[in-house]
Amino acid sequence: MIPDVDNESIVYLNGDYLPLGQAKVSVLDRGFIFGDGIYEVVPAYRRKPFRMDAHLARLERSLAAIGIKLDLSRADWEKLVLDMLRQSPLESSMAYIQVTRGPAKRDHAFPKHATPTVFCMVAPFERPGAAVREQGLSVIGVPDLRWLHCEIKSVSLLGNVLAKQQAVEAGVDEVIQFRDGHLSEGASCNVWVVRGGVLLAPMRDNLILEGIRYGFMEEMARQFGIPFESRRISEEEVRQADELMMTSATKEVLPIVTYDGAPVGAGRPGPVYRKLRAGYDDAVAAL
Ligand code: PDD
Repeated sequence: MIPDVDNESIVYLNGDYLPLGQAKVSVLDRGFIFGDGIYEVVPAYRRKPFRMDAHLARLERSLAAIGIKLDLSRADWEKLVLDMLRQSPLESSMAYIQVTRGPAKRDHAFPKHATPTVFCMVAPFERPGAAVREQGLSVIGVPDLRWLHCEIKSVSLLGNVLAKQQAVEAGVDEVIQFRDGHLSEGASCNVWVVRGGVLLAPMRDNLILEGIRYGFMEEMARQFGIPFESRRISEEEVRQADELMMTSATKEVLPIVTYDGAPVGAGRPGPVYRKLRAGYDDAVAAL
């Protein structure tokens, strides 16, 4: 039995629905052997997926990027996610989807005859509560030592895992990664900078995973009249930011109040964060 999870919860694996504790894949699965696969995390509230279309579009982009072909249409993926969510009693949850190139003889080259492994589970996620929304997050800056295809939502996450562990060992909530002195992203979230009332984010390129919240933040900024710029952001600009924020499916949008031990701006959640936070809550409520 796997510790700290509901082993009885029903998961989907290659066409079957079975309890999580009984779902097994081959030791020769290329996801296990090479990290040769991709994943997606769709947040849901009251069983309703949030921005599912955008998540499934990114899933399809990730599959195409690594050359995995499946007979599943967008409608099939939607049905799978909705079926899985329907079984969930949780107020907020996330549908986790993973596809690997499947079991095959160990050889780096793509196998000719492998059948991809398709897995989906619904896991609980607790919405950020009042304490973290008000107190904010602490972060440290670290060098980004990952590969150069961060735009693919790959299950090869060792770089992200090691980055996150640095946060744990430093006693802070998260890391902000920098490549060649420029902001990329957190270990599992996008990072936002506010300077002089302008909301800044790194460009959508191969150095970051474009979060589904990336587009959503941009939309909200437009709606609230907050100027938005997508460009290279130096470490210096992060250090001197008026506000910093992080976004992800599970963090939603959260303020960062300390960076490398020093207060960010006034050292408390700022006005731009508050507008975007309220916008996020409204969107969840309107689902
Ligand atoms: N992580 N960047 C990285 C490296 C991520 O892993 C994530 C999400 C994001 C934000 O993407 P989105 O807004 O679509 O959640 C950015 C997920 C939640 C995870 O790995 O659990």
